Amino acid sequence: TGMFTYDPGFTSTASCESALTYIDGDEGVLLHRGYPIGQLAKESSFMEVSYLLLNGELPDRSELDHFTYTITRHTMLHEQLATFYRGFRRDAHPMAIMCGVVGALSAFYHDSADITDPHQRMVASHRLIAKMPTIAAMAYKYSIGQPFLYPKNDLSYTGNFLRMTFGVPAEEYEVNPIVEKAMDRIFILHADHEQNASTSTVRLAGSSGANPFACIAAGIACLWGPAHGGANEAALNMLREIGTVDRIPHYIDRAKDKNDPFRLMGFGHRVYKNYDPRATVMQETVREVLSALGVSDPVFDVALRLEELALNDPYFIEKKLFPNVDFYSGVILSAIGFPTTMFTALFALARTVGWVAQWNEMISDPAQKIGRPRQLYTGPVQRDYVPVDKRS
Ligand code: CMC
Repeated sequence: TGMFTYDPGFTSTASCESALTYIDGDEGVLLHRGYPIGQLAKESSFMEVSYLLLNGELPDRSELDHFTYTITRHTMLHEQLATFYRGFRRDAHPMAIMCGVVGALSAFYHDSADITDPHQRMVASHRLIAKMPTIAAMAYKYSIGQPFLYPKNDLSYTGNFLRMTFGVPAEEYEVNPIVEKAMDRIFILHADHEQNASTSTVRLAGSSGANPFACIAAGIACLWGPAHGGANEAALNMLREIGTVDRIPHYIDRAKDKNDPFRLMGFGHRVYKNYDPRATVMQETVREVLSALGVSDPVFDVALRLEELALNDPYFIEKKLFPNVDFYSGVILSAIGFPTTMFTALFALARTVGWVAQWNEMISDPAQKIGRPRQLYTGPVQRDYVPVDKRS
């Protein structure tokens, strides 16, 4: 078997050194390059946070303008990719399309394959950050049969995404500043989260020297799962299934039942065992958005009551299960008008910044080698092959 530490799920294995993100799960602390997530979410912008994650410091005014200009100039997709979308069924899940389209970018940018050149790595990173909103919006447009909209350079990163998603060529699209702010905040809150499953996937894929677009496609595939990025979609679907406040206790009982695989989606976290600092910001934003949009969604009543009941239930208290960021983000995204299938695509859009920043950090780290975990073998001991007619 060998002398390996057995650590299923890597709950106590550090796979790398990283200067990007600090998490203290017991204290509910999340810092990007030292800055608390609450301050960044409330006072900064997604462009600034992207710059910070990629470059290590907050930009000054001219650095920010230059970065924003660079990202804006990379938002278009190769026209050939529109044909690529048409190969998908209209009812394809946006994450299926995202995996495919982002992976396909590797066939379009041959210069990005040279990962030994820091300049090329930065170009690939900018391309990915810039094109994700276009890719996600096109996945949505394709699913509802509306024409694709080209990016518009005078809009903000987030405003541009909203217009490409909800606008139509026939009329001007007015970006609602409250929605734009909330969306930007959701992007900031999802930008990076140290060595989570999808980020570890991107690093592992990248550790072999693979093409950056292919690595990010791998991250998207991992993020899709309901235990990870798929949780926001699963959380809202669950709240809708519960439907009314009186049905909540039944679902709480199910979540506590060891013989029932049902879990309260949007509750619990591998690292945060006290509270999720992202959830705190999100909870405030929910109220702002719902009142600004004049949306009264019964799902929000169910969410609030469920939160209250679960937080006072001995099972959840003892297991330290608290609402995570996805518990609230789904309610906001739904109020803005996104179908649940788009939720995880939005998470992928935002997390792309973290993925490329982590990927860059890994490639520049001389200590990094190809990721190659070992195992504890549990199969049969050596035995001899028996021809098929002699097997009893
Ligand atoms: N509802 C009911 N019971 C739960 C839940 C839940 N949501 N989460 C954990 N538990 C129980 C679990 O059954 C286990 O009980 P026991 O010790 O009796 O076996 C105990 O709590 C510990 O759970 P675990 O699965 O061993 O913990 P983990 O760190 O491996 O899992 C998790 C973390 C996030 C996968 C899990 O809490 C979960 O499945 N939550 C629901 C899905 C979700 O909301 N995921 C989003 C995470 S935040 C966004 C992201 O990072 O992508």
